[in-house]
Amino acid sequence: MNYLQMLSYLGIGGAHPGGLSLTKAIFELENLPPFTTILDAGCGTGQTTNFLHQLGYEVTGLDHDLRMIETARKRNIDQKNEITYLHESLSNTSIASNVFDLILCESVLSFTILKDSLYEIKRIMKEDGKMIAIEIIKNETLTNDEETELLDFYGFSSILTIEEWVTKFKENNLYIYNTLKAADIMINDLHEPSTEFNLSSDIPESTFSILDEHEHLSNKYRDKLSYCVFFLQKTHDQ
Ligand SMILES: C[S@@+](CC[C@H](N)C(=O)[O-])C[C@H]1O[C@@H](n2cnc3c(N)ncnc32)[C@H](O)[C@@H]1O
Repeated sequence: MNYLQMLSYLGIGGAHPGGLSLTKAIFELENLPPFTTILDAGCGTGQTTNFLHQLGYEVTGLDHDLRMIETARKRNIDQKNEITYLHESLSNTSIASNVFDLILCESVLSFTILKDSLYEIKRIMKEDGKMIAIEIIKNETLTNDEETELLDFYGFSSILTIEEWVTKFKENNLYIYNTLKAADIMINDLHEPSTEFNLSSDIPESTFSILDEHEHLSNKYRDKLSYCVFFLQKTHDQ
């Protein structure tokens, strides 16, 4: 059992820093026109996918974890399956090129091989399309032991500084037009719970010790890790 499996057994929605409140704040800021085509890449249990559908966007959810996608599909059972869900990897999708106005990655890229996922994102994004990514960042250098502890527990492929993210995006011809750091973000709706559960019927005992360890590591690395929202486009001059 690893961290992502724990999320999927507990059916955790809003499994990104800031939760749905941050998602709402981002979409208020972006103010996209109706019918914008959006890929919620690494959609998990589909909380954001559903929210964006309700705002009137043409949304597709994609996740490589079957349990996550099944939970997401169940959430939309009453909505006549108007949301398309794909059980695929972001690193190798069947999606045609140049189809999405926006690719959204809420706490997903750090789990992927960036060379593959960023290549795919750039391919499936329209020429004048955008990408928004909420990603974990390290604020300072981690020791080898600390880095190993985090990579092993969370299953991240890497933990980058803001500067390292900027370089990775540039290498893939994705350019930042805005960033929001955790400290910049004022979320007004404090009453909204950031965590939502859709428990599976077959939760293994070990799920709860993984949850405890997550709490422990969140406290331990409180000052060393943070997050950033990156707003990107394909070209410099938009
Ligand atoms: C931390 S969860 C975030 C889920 C969701 N975006 C949210 O905010 O609630 C990371 C998600 O990314 C998915 N994921 C990780 N690597 C992926 C890949 N290569 N392709 C598709 N999904 C991936 C996991 O299955 C998981 O659902």
